[in-house]
Amino acid sequence: MDFSIKIINWYKKNHRKLPWRETKNKYYILVSEFMLQQTRVSKNIIKYYLNFIKNFPSLEKLAQAEEKDVLKKWEGLGYYSRAKYLHSFAKKLKNNKNFFPKTYQELIKYKGIGPYTGAAIASICFHEVIPAIDGNACRVFSRYLGIYNDITSTATKNMFRDTVSKIMDFEQPGIFNQAIMDLGSLLCTPKIPKCFLCPVKDSCFSIKNGIVHKLPIKKIKKLIKNRFFYYIFISDRDKNICLNKRSTKDIWKGLYDFPLIESKKNLSIHEIKDKIWKKFRIETSNYLSFKYKIIHKLSHQILSIRFFYCKILQDLKKNIFFYNFFFIPHNKIKEFPFPRPIILFLKYKKMI
Ligand code: ADE
Repeated sequence: MDFSIKIINWYKKNHRKLPWRETKNKYYILVSEFMLQQTRVSKNIIKYYLNFIKNFPSLEKLAQAEEKDVLKKWEGLGYYSRAKYLHSFAKKLKNNKNFFPKTYQELIKYKGIGPYTGAAIASICFHEVIPAIDGNACRVFSRYLGIYNDITSTATKNMFRDTVSKIMDFEQPGIFNQAIMDLGSLLCTPKIPKCFLCPVKDSCFSIKNGIVHKLPIKKIKKLIKNRFFYYIFISDRDKNICLNKRSTKDIWKGLYDFPLIESKKNLSIHEIKDKIWKKFRIETSNYLSFKYKIIHKLSHQILSIRFFYCKILQDLKKNIFFYNFFFIPHNKIKEFPFPRPIILFLKYKKMI
């Protein structure tokens, strides 16, 4: 029996039961593939997926939504550009009711749809024979074929795309791609793989040569940046909360946070107060240092975050240092999308 038949037969008995696999609705599949970029399947992801399609049940409904509301339903998932690209994809519908790209080549023209997501959608929705190659698939094929090339390089991924397109199932390419995903997550795992259960163990190069633990090869390029965030939580006499919409090309673009002092190094209370005065011209005597501190890890950054509380008596809306901020009644705070550290802080303050 050939590789692809064994893989498909194994999938039929052992696949993970996931809600986006029980539908033919291409919009639902699109949502799932955006959500699963750089993200492992988990109960949490399934919850987000079901909630998202409940709130935006069609491409048309998603196109009509405001970005703020789309981000609210993505809140806490991270990699927020995925939600923005998904939304902008839906908005293209406005002028063309029949719009939905049906080939890999058309799909990858859209922002947020790379070769992996394009191949997953094209193969699952339109039965296009195109392999979905991500880190998981690279691990499976590096081991199966005995490939020592660095799997973080584009050249290696292209090589796998080429090779796998010749051995994948031509009748059920979507099932084949999802079978490789499940094999990579359930059996051919990074640590302690369950080779004894593998449907293709008899022809696996790495098993035959006892090198499973040596593959894949991954050159570590990761440079971790440390950032120190000092947030000022400002509420005025009328309990309005001061919010900032993040708009620069940085993490959390489109989400909301508070006025911020950022530094490359840890600052003393004295230095923080000084910087707050210089940036916002608010009386330092009003500050109260919170004990609340968060270490937030992102893929390439570690954020050390502290919060400072400031009750203000003067009207900040007239203060030119606050022209770019919003003052939101505290009972409206639930409507805004926030990054996870801000959500944790608001929960700690019992505001959400
Ligand atoms: N990761 C990306 N797409 C997936 C899918 N369709 N099923 C499971 N995991 C995935």
